[in-house]
Amino acid sequence: MLKLFRKLKGSPQPFNEKEISKEDILKGEIPNHIAIIMDGNGRWAKKRALPRIAGHHEGMKVVRKITKQANELGVKALTLYAFSTENWKRPKTEVDYLMKLPEEFLNTYLPELVKENVQVRIMGDKSKLPKHTFNAIEKAIKETKNNKGLVLNFALNYGSRTEIITAVQEIAKNVENGSLESNSIDETLFSSYLMTQSLRDPDLLIRTSGEIRLSNFMLWQLAYTEFWFTEVLWPDFNEQCLLQAIYTYQQRGRRFGGI
Ligand code: FPP
Repeated sequence: MLKLFRKLKGSPQPFNEKEISKEDILKGEIPNHIAIIMDGNGRWAKKRALPRIAGHHEGMKVVRKITKQANELGVKALTLYAFSTENWKRPKTEVDYLMKLPEEFLNTYLPELVKENVQVRIMGDKSKLPKHTFNAIEKAIKETKNNKGLVLNFALNYGSRTEIITAVQEIAKNVENGSLESNSIDETLFSSYLMTQSLRDPDLLIRTSGEIRLSNFMLWQLAYTEFWFTEVLWPDFNEQCLLQAIYTYQQRGRRFGGI
């Protein structure tokens, strides 16, 4: 009954009653690219009377778990919203902590990522990142650039509207200097000016913590993406949650505007 009620209200997706196995999922189509808005770290910490940063730290461990599983399932790209252009508005102590997380994550898990053939990438305005964050990421990008497994794409200091405006400015500049003809601007060309460049558009978007909005995340790229929302807070998100999301994705009929 609760399940039906939630469905009718359009609130976060209920879980399927049955536990989904990896084998079940592998029988169906695996989404090529999954994007995740990792939300609810603060609430997870608050529920436990812990400081917000404890939630972020726990969330970092989930990144490792979900990367591993996505790679094992044959997902080609995983884009994770780790820090938005709006997140600078948070208290300095929290921002400083969030900026240390990529470093801690990569110091701890880079050897494992290399072994598992994961390729690390970043999208966002790198120029505003603290030097230590930038250096840790650059090192990981360099060490994993030839890896052929999952692309682990961190959206860090990322905002979709800025991304789109920057693309428009670049295109305008190229039209002005004669290197681009305005009538050659189409969806493919426009996409190539975005930060996702060679990555295909996400097939599946997951947002945790019960919030149902995009928060300036991949507005162009998500045009035909399937959405899956859950009330689970990011630090509680686990392998079963990912399997549930993919299972739901596999039940959907994607028509891309056709019939
Ligand atoms: C939103 O939750 C979460 C963030 C702004 C940060 C997400 C970062 C991680 C999960 C760790 C990233 C790890 C690496 C390796 C970069 P919130 O703080 O807004 O939660 P709330 O809505 O409950 O307050």
